[in-house]
Amino acid sequence: MGRGWPTGRVRGWRTVQSHIISLNALTATSFAGILLGVGLFVVGAVADAGEFHPGEVWPDVDGQPIQAHGGGVILHSNVYYWYGEDRTPGGRGAVACYSSTNLYDWKREGVALGRDELPRVDGRRTFVERPKVIFNPRTQKFVLWGHLEQNGYRYARAGIATSSTAAGPFTFLQAIRPVANTNQFVSREADPNNEKMLGGTFRDMNVFVDDGGQAHVFYAAEDNLTMYVARLNDDFTGPQTPAVEGKTWARILVRAHREAPAPFKWGGKYYIVTSGCTGWKPNAADVAVATNALGPYQLQGNPCEGEGRETTFDCQSTCVLPAPGQPGNFIFMGDRWKPDNLSDSRYIWLPFTMKADGSFSIRWHDRWDLSVFKQP
Ligand code: GAL
Repeated sequence: MGRGWPTGRVRGWRTVQSHIISLNALTATSFAGILLGVGLFVVGAVADAGEFHPGEVWPDVDGQPIQAHGGGVILHSNVYYWYGEDRTPGGRGAVACYSSTNLYDWKREGVALGRDELPRVDGRRTFVERPKVIFNPRTQKFVLWGHLEQNGYRYARAGIATSSTAAGPFTFLQAIRPVANTNQFVSREADPNNEKMLGGTFRDMNVFVDDGGQAHVFYAAEDNLTMYVARLNDDFTGPQTPAVEGKTWARILVRAHREAPAPFKWGGKYYIVTSGCTGWKPNAADVAVATNALGPYQLQGNPCEGEGRETTFDCQSTCVLPAPGQPGNFIFMGDRWKPDNLSDSRYIWLPFTMKADGSFSIRWHDRWDLSVFKQP
């Protein structure tokens, strides 16, 4: 894949045009001005070739806006794959896949998990939100987990699908509530957290593979009041069974009302960036830290700094991606939802670097590129 020309041109052209127009006004007939114009054209095009423009329309290499909302990125055999909600009008429910070798320029691989592959429940369609994919080295399969839902958001299950190739097509495997499906909850009286009724609910989610290869799913449970983390089985296709609280799964961020989990690991510690639960409306992020994947996690406060920090720069977390090359550098990925036109929701990718004390801060950048990580 080439480095950025199609995207760079699409994006760069507006910048270049405005450079040329303002230049013309200033130096209408001057030869020096023309030379300067040519220089600006080259500089503008090159600079735009590899840059992130948080909040702007992000076209794929064919010039079409990327449709990968609530998504996640994995690196496999030196190729990045970005999976997310395909909200192309008429396509709600499907998962799209894009590929890239540089994180700037994305080629649409197509629909990885199609709407018609999803189960109908009580005669009604289901759809996938926040899809995430991990690769299982043992089975050599890509395993997709997502929030499988219906209109009304009461279905609240994990949808799991597998594929032998990164781009799919994925085959739907099962819809489950990972913990409730495997636990015997007793009476309501002995169930103060309503786990019997709501404990298994599975909504905003993410998956995370630890250094030793153990996979986990993090999800907003108990009707989004408390988050659960559950270890996955060897195939990554369901939870480890039998489920034993504290050993194979745990309640974390208890009654903290957090969602949109974006887990990552650094310096032997587990971090989860989350949002509050205000639907499509943005709110303040928080980061929780633990020394064990199953917790306990301590909420540390809002990692965002500067103007816009109270609304996470008008977005909601979806994933944290280790930046290429340099350990300790990460890319925060968020969604700036547009509830009235979800397909035009925008992506907010921002860089951050871990400090020696294990803290970090996320700041707004109008535009940036991966060279920010090389600066001291
Ligand atoms: C948010 C959630 C989104 C979507 C939305 C629907 O809380 O993070 O993924 O489900 O609610 O209102």
